[in-house]
Amino acid sequence: MEDLYYSDYIELDKILNSQHPKSFESPEAGNDEMLFIIIHQVYELWFKQIIFELDLVRSIFVQGHINDNSDEMSKVVYKLRRIAKILELINQQVSVLETMTALDFLEFRNFLLPASGFQSKQFRLIEAKLGLKMEQRYKTEYYKHTRRGSLSEGDLRDVNQAESEHTLKEMIIQWLERMPFFDERYWSEYKQVSPVDSADRHEFWQDYREAYKTSLSKNETGRLKEFDKVFFDEGRGDVPPAAMRAALFITIYRNLPIFHLPFELLNTLSEIDELLSNWRYRHFMMVRRMIGLRVGTGGTSGAGYLEGTLSQHYAFREITEVATFLIERSKRPVLPNALKEKVSFNIP
Ligand code: HEM
Repeated sequence: MEDLYYSDYIELDKILNSQHPKSFESPEAGNDEMLFIIIHQVYELWFKQIIFELDLVRSIFVQGHINDNSDEMSKVVYKLRRIAKILELINQQVSVLETMTALDFLEFRNFLLPASGFQSKQFRLIEAKLGLKMEQRYKTEYYKHTRRGSLSEGDLRDVNQAESEHTLKEMIIQWLERMPFFDERYWSEYKQVSPVDSADRHEFWQDYREAYKTSLSKNETGRLKEFDKVFFDEGRGDVPPAAMRAALFITIYRNLPIFHLPFELLNTLSEIDELLSNWRYRHFMMVRRMIGLRVGTGGTSGAGYLEGTLSQHYAFREITEVATFLIERSKRPVLPNALKEKVSFNIP
């Protein structure tokens, strides 16, 4: 077998011959379109890697039961941590593009009409695979493929397809709902401390609710109603009550050995949401500096549209907002020994 040569192995010629700034053909050309193209290509390469990792994580969950203390769980966490690192990096890269001024951008802006990052299929796939649904998106009318500057028919079909497959969020919800910690055999010796207020609620949750109630300040008393709604009646957003309870339970008892990885997983999902939202914010601020209040090349209202996505496009908002319902460590109900033993690593 012939020795591999570096540039052949990574197909460098293809990559390095894929920058063709339109404005360079014009006599009044500036010279920043090269940077503009390269930075978009770099982003798209990182998007590709994120999708690759996301698909891997989804394929692990889709196999069915995932043991909380298994190799698969650590692989899931490790891959999601990698996605978070990539997002950190692409956040930093915005400042490279910010070395271009608004006037520099104007030199070539009209050459790319009506192309826009709005049409980034990979970005939409990341959002969809994480769990963002079309109906949750800001200004869904912008996604009609018949609109100039929107996604092509084929790209939109692929995004819809990704949305209809098992999203990471759906799989996380199913995993949370399966948490077996309220199995009767672990709770026979539990000593309820609060007065019984609802027979169909587990004693633990009655105690927890009571502790939460006493932790609320005067102007927060409405939160108790919210607590009942989120953990017992409706759930929150797309997440049903049982899954919300499991997320809260893991978060409160995250120091128990068996919860280290599950907590790391939930925490990383919130971090991914936060980093994506940081990117949206940095991109929005950059766009405001670059084009002010003008419409985008993709035909949306521009900065106004981007600001709207910022407050709306989250996949794991419900998980992050579990923090609303935490109580101090010292006020946590004491778990029965049978359960503690079950969730600790026991070396004989
Ligand atoms: C001079 C730099 C840039 C400007 C002025 C700009 C402007 C805009 C504007 C105005 C939009 C809204 C859609 C539209 O009407 O066009 C948009 C969307 C978008 N841009 Fe940029 N952009 C810039 C750089 C980038 C870069 C480097 C990326 C990296 C891939 C990017 C990715 C995106 C994405 C993914 C969207 C869709 C956001 C969403 O709908 O949530 N943009 N951009």
